[in-house]
Amino acid sequence: LKDYQHILTSRFESKDPEKPASLGVGLIELNQPKSLNSLSDALFEDLIDAARVFDKQEDIGSIVITGKGKAFAAGADIPEMSTKSFAEAYNSNMFSQWAEFKISKPIIAAVNGFALGGGCELAMMCDIVIASPNAKFGQPEVNLGIIPGAGGTQRLIRAVGKSKAMQMILTGEMITAEQAERDGLISKVVESREVLLEEALKIGYAIGEKGPIAIRMAKECVNAAEEMNLEQGLQFERRNFHALFATSDQKEGMGAFLDKRTPVWKNE
Ligand code: CAA
Repeated sequence: LKDYQHILTSRFESKDPEKPASLGVGLIELNQPKSLNSLSDALFEDLIDAARVFDKQEDIGSIVITGKGKAFAAGADIPEMSTKSFAEAYNSNMFSQWAEFKISKPIIAAVNGFALGGGCELAMMCDIVIASPNAKFGQPEVNLGIIPGAGGTQRLIRAVGKSKAMQMILTGEMITAEQAERDGLISKVVESREVLLEEALKIGYAIGEKGPIAIRMAKECVNAAEEMNLEQGLQFERRNFHALFATSDQKEGMGAFLDKRTPVWKNE
């Protein structure tokens, strides 16, 4: 990957000798700690570019996003927005680039601190969210005279239900990582900040041991549930399920189970 100005990228491989076939994990660290990783247009451009590059690399199975410093991301960049007129916001279709954040491989958000406004919205765009005990989640836009603009009003209600979503969005109050886990916004609070990345990588390695086509298709089907009614969703799932029988990885996966050996995936 190229050198980005606002993020750091690296890659990790599982050192587990028992699982040599595991794919690597691409790590993206938001790296503007002085502004609490505020999501400027330039940072978002770096982020989406790096995610797309990892998405294309065959030896990468998943992506982890985390933040440097005390924030995951404290939201959109306030100085960048503060003087914008309606016409500027409208004519540039501000934040529409966030809708382009469509990555086929699983993305794990490792929330290391504040995930506010666009930061909370970014976490919700990821597929799995884990957090350190000090993490805080919130949609504080109303404090600024605005509303969430990168999916907060839509994704939060789907994640935690109406009453909790309304409370967060209308009061702007933050919730703790523990509360976020109870509410179903995140899947796990890890033991400490120190083990957060390790835990995220473990999830990435577990994903990297599976058939890569099945993994991407599973993500596509789960995401389709948010767009389709149940009948359409079940049909979409079933057709994709059928399609996997055309892959050699399905033959390999089932063959390996029957032979009691570890499958070797070919991504085909
Ligand atoms: N944009 C730009 N800079 C930000 C920022 C943001 N969203 N959040 C924090 N910063 C900057 C601060 O201005 C400060 O800079 P200086 O040192 O130059 O003064 C630096 O980061 C450190 O922040 P604080 O001194 O405020 O740190 P704190 O620990 O006292 O407070 C905080 C932390 C509670 C997160 C507080 O910084 C805060 O409330 N930040 C704003 C959060 C927010 O409102 N986010 C929503 C933005 S709007 C949005 O995201 C729209 C959308 O839907 C996409």
